[in-house]
Amino acid sequence: MLTNEEERVALYSRADLTTVPSEVTKDTNLENLNLNWREKELPEKERTKHVHRLHPYLGKFIPQLVEIFLRKYFSPGQTVLDPFCGSGTTLVQANELGINSIGYDVSAFNVLLTRTKTAKYDLVKVRKEVMDIFNKTRDISQPKSQQLCIWEESSPTWLLKETDDPYLQQWFAPQARRELLVYRQLIESEGYEYQSLLKIILSRSARSARLTTHFDLDFPKNPQTEPYWCYKHSRLCQPTTEALKFLKRYSLDTIKRLEEFSVRRTDAVAIACHADSRKTAPPPIDGVITSPPYVGLIDYHEQHAYAYHLLGLEDKREREIGAAANGSSQKAQRQYQQDISEVFRNALDSMPAGSRLIVIAGDKANLYGQIADFIGVEVEAIVQRHVNRRTGRRSGEFYESVFIWRKR
Ligand SMILES: C[S@@+](CC[C@H](N)C(=O)[O-])C[C@H]1O[C@@H](n2cnc3c(N)ncnc32)[C@H](O)[C@@H]1O
Repeated sequence: MLTNEEERVALYSRADLTTVPSEVTKDTNLENLNLNWREKELPEKERTKHVHRLHPYLGKFIPQLVEIFLRKYFSPGQTVLDPFCGSGTTLVQANELGINSIGYDVSAFNVLLTRTKTAKYDLVKVRKEVMDIFNKTRDISQPKSQQLCIWEESSPTWLLKETDDPYLQQWFAPQARRELLVYRQLIESEGYEYQSLLKIILSRSARSARLTTHFDLDFPKNPQTEPYWCYKHSRLCQPTTEALKFLKRYSLDTIKRLEEFSVRRTDAVAIACHADSRKTAPPPIDGVITSPPYVGLIDYHEQHAYAYHLLGLEDKREREIGAAANGSSQKAQRQYQQDISEVFRNALDSMPAGSRLIVIAGDKANLYGQIADFIGVEVEAIVQRHVNRRTGRRSGEFYESVFIWRKR
């Protein structure tokens, strides 16, 4: 006798070839979708293609999943809303397909990231600015003994000002901090056009330059100041003391990724707003694709704490729905259902009858059936997806559901 879980696995292992996103059309039957890609069918390089990997972000959905449902339910020129846009996956994929998009997120860093991914760039100017700020940072931040003579006389000391932010003091070695702070000052002082892009390069570098172990970059608890046994590399590793090597690596990587996206980019509009979706009425839209925060799982501000401190972003963590810090008790689950329902009601008010609200969630606690009842949508289908995560701290298997709801 098979348990429910085993039956589902058996069903998936009998399924045909996995779906190729670019082949999906409005006529593709939901029953013919097979979203259980294995690593060799959908390698990490594809899941993190072009701007999708401009900056690490824990908790995003894979672009291929979004592409499939955009192709099936939306047309070029229409507008899709993602009320929990996170790192901007929906907006990037919508743009590729010529679909306009609106994204809301309560985390200022996520909005910065989404805007940076979807902006239109003059790539020659990008390269010039990205390399200019890197070269200046390298020259200015070197210890005095290694500086070229030109800086001996005229060293711009105001750029080398220490910070009094305890987080930055605690989580970065002195030289790494110096390099990051110089870069930050230069973003403001040099009048660059692409300041948001430079902030993303700075944040990505800061993430790697923290005093952490290589195997816990998502939520490190304490600064790592001594050599440690590294499970990722199976050897003794040292905490990093500098940031320049990361600034260089991510500068080049960012330019490459923007170039890759530029050949796929369309002129469809993508707008990202820093907003609490419970309190925001969207303009007219043709539907929703989203993956909401889950209850008690991830603190979305905390995962980018370094960016908030370094860039001085507004912190609205108390407005996060389902924050991990609030746990996943029955009470937290009830509150979560109410909050998510409030967001979806706002969206439904701006959608025509018959349009779709597509929600992707790993609904372990079975909260979404009731949410559908609360907001009065017709449940058209629920497509299950078997996810086999091979890497990372949260590796392992789980199921993700794609809820396809219709406004009555
Ligand atoms: C699962 S993530 C979305 C990830 C996104 N699909 C992606 O691919 O990057 C959920 C997002 O909801 C945001 N969020 C939480 N509470 C919110 C609220 N009240 N209003 C708007 N966004 C909120 C979080 O900051 C987080 O970025």
